[in-house]
Amino acid sequence: MAFSFFFRDQQVLERVVDHILPAIAGRNRPRVWDAGAAMGQEPYTLAVLFAERMGHFAYDNLRIDATDVESTGSFARIAENGAYPREELARLPEGILEKYFESNGKPGYFRVIERIRRRVVFQRHDLLSFQEIGQGYALVVCKNVLLHFQPQERVQVLRMFHRALGRGGLLATEQTQEMPPELDPLFRRVARGGPLFEKVEGPRCAL
Ligand SMILES: C[S@@+](CC[C@H](N)C(=O)[O-])C[C@H]1O[C@@H](n2cnc3c(N)ncnc32)[C@H](O)[C@@H]1O
Repeated sequence: MAFSFFFRDQQVLERVVDHILPAIAGRNRPRVWDAGAAMGQEPYTLAVLFAERMGHFAYDNLRIDATDVESTGSFARIAENGAYPREELARLPEGILEKYFESNGKPGYFRVIERIRRRVVFQRHDLLSFQEIGQGYALVVCKNVLLHFQPQERVQVLRMFHRALGRGGLLATEQTQEMPPELDPLFRRVARGGPLFEKVEGPRCAL
């Protein structure tokens, strides 16, 4: 189900962005993969959080690949156009609407500004294909998706994220996600209790 909203799990996303920033500083074209991005609320939130924290030049180098299994019809149109009804934007933190949204000429709708939209690339992708969309990602965000999968599917999807991440890359999941014990050699929990895992490299993590 494509339920999502802007700034969902704000504190978690802020922590993730703050944690990854030193690692991507100075990196040429750092990439983030938001898997299960619904109608774009989460990847655009990430883009805003990065924009708030990065200089113009570094930010314009960033690319967020936003994928979802649903990407036909209105779903894709909404995400790519970045236009949302006013009610959807009611929970935005103070100042964000004025700074990162603009009128798109349609009464009752606001559109994410171009500077934010340009950083997010949408494509259809089924996580249950177990095929990563690329490699070398600094960060994979997959929130409120894994809980819909069977345990063995979850393990395979997490292995795929491990392949997609670059050295020291971070995986952010929903709060309740535990790492299956068989994947302990592949990921190290970054902080106790938080849904943040760092990719572990080395001979023990042969896939
Ligand atoms: C509850 S929404 C979560 C959206 C966002 N990540 C968030 O936390 O607000 C779950 C999303 O996962 C997507 N999804 C479900 N199965 C998927 C699959 N096999 N591959 C990719 N996306 C999937 C759904 O289409 C939906 O958009």
